[in-house]
Amino acid sequence: MTTEAFNAREFRDALSSFATGVTVVTCLDANGEPVGATASSFNSVSMDPPLILWSITKTAYSADAFINAKHFVVNVLGADQTDMSNKFARSGTDKFADVEVEKGIGGVPMLPGTITCFECEAWATYDGGDHEIIVGQVKAMRSTAGSGLVFYRGAYATAEAIPTLAPVETNDVSHFIDNYLLYYLTRATHQMGDAFHQLVADDGLTTKEWRVLACLYNENSMSLAELAKRTMVDQTTLLELALGLQKHDMARVQQLDTGTKLTGTAAGQQRVVHLIADCQKAEQSALEGLDTDAAETLKAMLQRIISNTD
Ligand SMILES: Cc1cc2nc3c(=O)[nH]c(=O)nc-3n(C[C@H](O)[C@H](O)[C@H](O)COP(=O)(O)O)c2cc1C
Repeated sequence: MTTEAFNAREFRDALSSFATGVTVVTCLDANGEPVGATASSFNSVSMDPPLILWSITKTAYSADAFINAKHFVVNVLGADQTDMSNKFARSGTDKFADVEVEKGIGGVPMLPGTITCFECEAWATYDGGDHEIIVGQVKAMRSTAGSGLVFYRGAYATAEAIPTLAPVETNDVSHFIDNYLLYYLTRATHQMGDAFHQLVADDGLTTKEWRVLACLYNENSMSLAELAKRTMVDQTTLLELALGLQKHDMARVQQLDTGTKLTGTAAGQQRVVHLIADCQKAEQSALEGLDTDAAETLKAMLQRIISNTD
C-alpha cells in the first residue's frame, strides 16, 4: 500500500474497494425525451431536508440533461437487474426501448422491477472536477424489502448479511431477564437437553452414565477429578458409577500413584454410538440459522465462560 503519488488506474482500483449499490438515474431532457444513466455514485446527504446526491461525468451524453433537469428519479436496482444496469451504462443507444416505465415526479420515467425509487426535485449542482455533483431533494419514494445489486471491485455482486449472534426477538417484557446471560444459557440447556435426556432414559441409561460414556468415547482417558468436572458428578458418585460400568467392560478404572484414572472401552463406545449420532442431529437443528463460523464462535465463547467461572 502507498500513500504517495498514484496514477489514475491505481486511484480507480482503490475506489473500487468501496462496495456500492447500483442505480439508474432518469430524467427528461429539454425536449421532454427520457434520459437515463447507470450510476453507483449515489449517496445520502441530509435527513432534514431529505437530500441525496450522485455525480455524472461531464462528458456523458446525458450530462446536460441531468444538470438542467428540474426533476430526476434514482432507481435502485435489484440483485437480478444486471441487464438493466448494462443497458443504461451504454452510451448512444435507445435505452428505453423495450422498457415499460411508469411516470413519476415531473413525468420522469421510473423503471420496473427496482427495489427503491427516489423521486427528486433538483436542489443544487456543484462542480466536482471532471464530474458534476447533483443534489436532489426527495419528494416521494417507494421501497421494497428486495435484495439490491452491488458493485464491488469492478464486478456485480450480491449482498449477504453477516450472521450475528443477535438474540431472536422475544415478547418477554422482563428487561432484566432479556439481558441476563444465565437465563439464556439455562433456557437453551433445558430446551436442548430435555428431549435428549428422554432419549437417553428410553435407552436404559441414566444421564450420569451417558455423560461418563460420552466423555470417555473413543477410548478416551482422564483423571477422576477431570471427569468429575466434565460430567458435573461428584467424585465419590462418579467412582461408584465407573466401577459399575467396569463390571460390564464399558470403562476401565486404574488406581495410579498420581490418582484414579478412567478410560473408555470399545464396549462403552458401542453402548452410546447411536446416541452420539442423535446428539449431533439435535445440535444441528438447535444451531439452525447460524453458519459454521458463528457456531464455532458460540462454542469458543462458552468455553471461555466455563474457564472464567471454573
Ligand atoms: C456499475 C456502474 C456504475 C456507474 N456509475 C457512474 C456514475 O456514478 N457516474 C457516471 O457519470 N457514470 C457512471 N457509470 C457510467 C455511465 O453509466 C455511462 O458512462 C453511461 O454511458 C452514461 O450514459 P450516457 O453516455 O448515455 O449519458 C457507471 C457505470 C456502471 C456500469
